[in-house]
Amino acid sequence: MDAKINREAHIFCRRGFLMSSLALALSLAAPGSVSASVVKAKGALKNKKPQKGCVLSYSQTGYTERYGKLIARCWEKQGLTVMTGNLKQADRSALANYDLIAIGAPVHYFDVPKNVQDWLTEIPSINGIGVVSYVSFGGNGNGQHNAAVNILEALTNRGGIPLGMDTFGNMSAYPPTWSMGNEAQTLKFRDKPDQATYARVRALASDVLGRYASGQGITVQSEPSFSGLFKGGISRWVAKATIGRHEMDTKLCIRCGTCVNRCPVGAIDLAIPRIDTKRCILCFGCLNNCPTGAHVMTTFGKKIYSFAELLKRHKIAIQEPRPIDG
Ligand SMILES: Cc1cc2nc3c(=O)[nH]c(=O)nc-3n(C[C@H](O)[C@H](O)[C@H](O)COP(=O)(O)O)c2cc1C
Repeated sequence: MDAKINREAHIFCRRGFLMSSLALALSLAAPGSVSASVVKAKGALKNKKPQKGCVLSYSQTGYTERYGKLIARCWEKQGLTVMTGNLKQADRSALANYDLIAIGAPVHYFDVPKNVQDWLTEIPSINGIGVVSYVSFGGNGNGQHNAAVNILEALTNRGGIPLGMDTFGNMSAYPPTWSMGNEAQTLKFRDKPDQATYARVRALASDVLGRYASGQGITVQSEPSFSGLFKGGISRWVAKATIGRHEMDTKLCIRCGTCVNRCPVGAIDLAIPRIDTKRCILCFGCLNNCPTGAHVMTTFGKKIYSFAELLKRHKIAIQEPRPIDG
């Protein structure tokens, strides 16, 4: 077993080092390629007062969804009719029917998750619609500002008028951290989100309505960041290289379909059952949400355990926002 762990660790270090060196060399050779994105309004809002809002999120462990629902409730309180939903099931062609759209995602691998990026590239024109982006991130965070900028940029490029953006921190839902023995690193943030976090979510919702009324869009810019050199595909590839087993325990699987619904890229086939590890984008949505622990994953020979299990082991109940009138 030790020899296997050493071999896996060796492969990881070698590949990680090669990829990091390559990314660094590329960025040094072509500094212009790491240029900042500036997001600003290119037109005007299509009307003076928003009536219909839409808040869509991608959320694997509930944080991003929770913030999105709070934004929706705040807007409803101000008289809007608001639709909330899951990005995967959302009908992109209906986006043009709203006055205000908020899109939320967690930060994955220092970036917007790949499935969300793909989703954003296929949205129709949303000319004159107010747009908002927000991301949830884990622990001290890494890449959160630029991830939120990237979402806002994608919406603005389709004609949306940028009205707000923010990033909200909470406990990280990245299972290799605690499964490798670094539970403390994750648990340091066990009290997040707290009511102060939710106050910031409410402030975002209310600021957006204020800007809508004044017709003033925001201008935001991405920040130079070291982790940005390794964002997305590169770090996901490195993380994938550390995964030993990724399979389903057919004795534990109850065929509930939770993992299939959670998987953003259709990598799980319950009929066989089989996980297409090439297609998998290593979001851990299957493992984090499986009710019976049937998704077996290992890293450096250690079993990776889920977010739900972490909460259970440490008796953590995630704080909900106080009722809006409370
Ligand atoms: C696969 C994966 C990668 C992650 N990468 C980052 C990261 O690069 N930076 C960061 O701040 N948090 C990272 N996190 C933590 C998540 O952004 C954080 O837990 C988020 O709030 C989860 O949102 P959700 O509950 O809506 O899925 C990662 C989590 C996962 C599962």
